[in-house]
Amino acid sequence: MKLPKICSKSPIAIDAIKDKRYAWCSCGLSDKQPLCNGAHRGYEFVPKIFTEKEDKTIYLCNCKKTSNPPYCDGTHNKI
Ligand code: FES
Repeated sequence: MKLPKICSKSPIAIDAIKDKRYAWCSCGLSDKQPLCNGAHRGYEFVPKIFTEKEDKTIYLCNCKKTSNPPYCDGTHNKI
């Protein structure tokens, strides 16, 4: 399988909570998309750890090709 695995060609919205620590899956193997579940172990991929400064809805990349992880940058429209 070629990694990162494309999970979907659209972002996933989550309601992020201020200062909560999130781990975005960069490899595409997690079954808890768009977040990491540890399935990257043994591969060169590591999750992107991030927090938000306020409660807000964010759109996380799920094609795993974004240039601005963990956020969707529209790259899914080109693949
Ligand atoms: S499961 Fe994909 S980065 Fe952790």
